[in-house]
Amino acid sequence: MSQQDVTEPKLVEHFISKLLKTKNPDDMIADTKETGLNKTLTWIDLIILGIGAVIGAGIFSMVGTAVVGTASHPGAGPALVISMIIAAIACIFSALCYAEFAAMIPVSGGVYTYTFATMGELAAWMVGWVLMLQYTIGNIAVACSWTGYLFQFLRGFEAYTTHLPAALQGIVHHIMYPPLWLISDYGSAKAAYLKMGMNPADHIPHLFGFLPICINIPAICIIALVTYILVKGISESKNMASIMVAIKLLVIALFIGVGAFYVKPANWTPFMPNGVGSVLISAFTIFFAYTGFDAISTAAEETKNPQRDVPIGIIGTLLACTLVYIFVALVLTGVVPWNQININAPIAHAIQKTGQNWIAGFISIGALTGLTSVLLVMQLAATRILFAMARDNFFPTILKKVHPVYKTPHVITWLVGGAMMIGCLFLDLNLAAQLCIFSVFTAFIMVCISVLILRKTDPDRERPFKVPFSPLFPSLGILLCGSLMCVAVISMGKHAILFPLWLLIGVSIYAGYGYKRNRRIERIEEKRQQNKAARERASL
Ligand code: ALA
Repeated sequence: MSQQDVTEPKLVEHFISKLLKTKNPDDMIADTKETGLNKTLTWIDLIILGIGAVIGAGIFSMVGTAVVGTASHPGAGPALVISMIIAAIACIFSALCYAEFAAMIPVSGGVYTYTFATMGELAAWMVGWVLMLQYTIGNIAVACSWTGYLFQFLRGFEAYTTHLPAALQGIVHHIMYPPLWLISDYGSAKAAYLKMGMNPADHIPHLFGFLPICINIPAICIIALVTYILVKGISESKNMASIMVAIKLLVIALFIGVGAFYVKPANWTPFMPNGVGSVLISAFTIFFAYTGFDAISTAAEETKNPQRDVPIGIIGTLLACTLVYIFVALVLTGVVPWNQININAPIAHAIQKTGQNWIAGFISIGALTGLTSVLLVMQLAATRILFAMARDNFFPTILKKVHPVYKTPHVITWLVGGAMMIGCLFLDLNLAAQLCIFSVFTAFIMVCISVLILRKTDPDRERPFKVPFSPLFPSLGILLCGSLMCVAVISMGKHAILFPLWLLIGVSIYAGYGYKRNRRIERIEEKRQQNKAARERASL
């Protein structure tokens, strides 16, 4: 047998063993002792954090698209409430799996860490890569929604501008109705100009005479502000998030409380104007409204009693949000006929229709605050996961840098913020949200699979919280998320290709950088150990 014949299978074996190399959960837990993070959070804090991450663009903006639909698919109409319940059921199985893991391995990397413990290095990298899409692209959707509510808020003052001098009225009008290319991405601006019967080329400026440019300035500004706050420090961010959560809950309570008096049950018929298919597609669209509760699992390392508090935090958040969403769906579709619901700022617009303009203004402020809290928590989660990946040597050392004064991972935070600002130039709210949901489904499926694997490979590990009826519940989670993913492909059309493209880029970066870097570091570590052993032998 030639040398080649002997070594090649071994090389392949070695390569595969590295790809499947898992991390021991006990080592992960031991590592957290060195990071010295403060363990101060209780289940109430976790629910606040969860609601901070969950209630946002989904319920303040996308709910409009879910009811009315788009040019390519019809909306659910009043049956939105069914779509809401389907989306919540798809979440609950994965939420239980998150709870099992977070209580068992309370470390900060979330599903990235769980995958590393069960499926190895390559799968963990891919999950981390997908989570980046979830949090960064998801935040682009939220920032786009922020722009929508900003103008809804500003235009609420229009009635009061009639008393101003004519020149001032002109300036205020320009602020309230800026050119579309300054408040949206290129695709949306082009579509809007075409819809108004205008030629986009006449209105969108061109760089160097050929490159059309559109800049969603408000979205970019809010991302820059959130990034700055996150660089300044975690405690400021957390306090701010709590205040914002309180405002957003107050505003939603106001919407439900006031709107309930204007509900006309006749608006709920026909209940399902576009058939069952539209309800399923809307369940996929509105799924975005539930994403973010997984961010709680990334705070497990900072929780006082993670074994008890994290499961309560995750499941409590999901139940609280589901309840809120069901009421919002009923009131929204009860106040305004389903096909007249506004798709940019549906909640504020619905209240405006009741004639309560001041409440509509207040709701817009609340929505802006609520959306900002989502931006904060999601970007925080993105930086934590990236930091965990940098710690695992998937990225250059510079990304592990912590700011000397603020003690935050400032390089990663600005990098994520910068990527989101660039993304705002190309992605609109719906496309960004759909891409984000694809990533969420992938993460949810992975966490369900991880639970099933660890139950087999490490059955005796202490599990302070166990998913009931396993393997049925995790399998149902996989099945439901997988089915909604198929619906998603129909709903996204040709844009669905963007997700596999993202995965392909991820695999290429891993092959070209992450894998090699990890092996190099392993070799250096091996050599260091050998030298140490040699020195010890020599000194004997
Ligand atoms: N669930 C979050 C939102 O709706 C991401 O904005």
